[in-house]
Amino acid sequence: MRRVSYVHGSYDDPKSYEHLASVLNDIEHSSSEGEEVGPANTRCFLANNRIFYFALPPFIFIKVASFIRRYCWTKTGFNRAIIEKPFGRDLESAQTMIRELSDILKENEMYRIDHYLGKEMVVNLMYIRFANMALSSMWHSNNIASVVITFKEPFGTLGRGGYFDKFGIIRDVIQNHLLQVLTIVAMERPVSLESEDIRDEKVKVLKSIPPVLLENTVIGQYGTSLDGKEVAYLDDPGVPKDSTCPTFASMVLFVQNERWDGVPFILKGAKAVNERKAEVRIQFKSVPGQIFRDLHQNELVVRIQPDEAIYLKIQTKKPGFGMIPQETFLDLSYKERFPNQRAPEAYEKLLLDVLRGESGFFVRSDELEAAWRIFTPILHELEEKKVQPIPYVYGSRGPVESDALASRFGFTRSAESIYPHSYTSEVDSP
Ligand code: BG6
Repeated sequence: MRRVSYVHGSYDDPKSYEHLASVLNDIEHSSSEGEEVGPANTRCFLANNRIFYFALPPFIFIKVASFIRRYCWTKTGFNRAIIEKPFGRDLESAQTMIRELSDILKENEMYRIDHYLGKEMVVNLMYIRFANMALSSMWHSNNIASVVITFKEPFGTLGRGGYFDKFGIIRDVIQNHLLQVLTIVAMERPVSLESEDIRDEKVKVLKSIPPVLLENTVIGQYGTSLDGKEVAYLDDPGVPKDSTCPTFASMVLFVQNERWDGVPFILKGAKAVNERKAEVRIQFKSVPGQIFRDLHQNELVVRIQPDEAIYLKIQTKKPGFGMIPQETFLDLSYKERFPNQRAPEAYEKLLLDVLRGESGFFVRSDELEAAWRIFTPILHELEEKKVQPIPYVYGSRGPVESDALASRFGFTRSAESIYPHSYTSEVDSP
């Protein structure tokens, strides 16, 4: 059976949608009713169900949605719409978009996708947190000193500068991807794994976070690489020469609830830096009344990518006669522990969720508003004051001011601890 058809049309021409609807009808009528497709564990019936994937420029979004709704909605099966970011530029534009879309689609028909929520280790955070008594009892400000959530990419905007310049790193990855990871790290145990129960808990976390302050933020913009081979952000075609758009940001957030009071959540997003890495690093407090010297704090690291891993840095005695401390790792590297199992790509998992009607790992409209409330004041302040980003070398770790910010909030980098399976000889730090 032919699985893919291509229909050409234009965004604002109703005839294109009529044509699309007739192609869909033909496909549905030509396939015998009730036929099963797909491998055993993803089996679904060829009923007249329709899923529309909206990856569109914001200016045309509402128009396309209303045409799709008017011409292409099926009356005999389910209709679902997957919506790709950007979900607005700030609280006001997001609210406008939410309002306008709610006249066209019902909330339970919308699947706002944030692909970080489909990453294996992000979903796994739910297990790590809620299926392990040993860990869940440590998950508290009594024991945790700071949480660092990092996204790093070793390349720049790669000619996408025109798009990127309107958004910047805070909107591109921090307000969505990293904040979503934070909600899963910080949320209380949901009543069940039902979609709305998960999302209810995530919203509570977001509502407990006050807006980020400028004084708790460092922004940067990459220049050329040391060897001169990689161009600066400002040399990307499409980027205005005087752009103050950040390609790097470190921001400190607080979750003001009983569990997390006083614990800094440091979110760091960076393009054109030294490596590709996304991880959650939970740094524990020092042992009170310590009897040993020169010890580093425990850290639990959940590496989202590349090479999924969970490792706990612990202090041990160096083998031998001396009383010498040695930091080492309890190491669960997925490649070694599960050599023959493939973690699905984030989009694979999320698309399957849409087919199944599971929306727990998609962003609900109240979640989106709560997320924008945290970031809109700082985004406006940065733009109104034209705050200059700190320049950093392409391929470096980013501005040193970011390390100073993290250490101001109590995070300590351990220069000596190198992750055993590290693919770089990089110092193990965010
Ligand atoms: C996208 C951002 O949402 O996520 C990109 O727009 C970024 O700028 C990408 O490169 C990162 O996704 P991943 O899955 O490669 O970490």
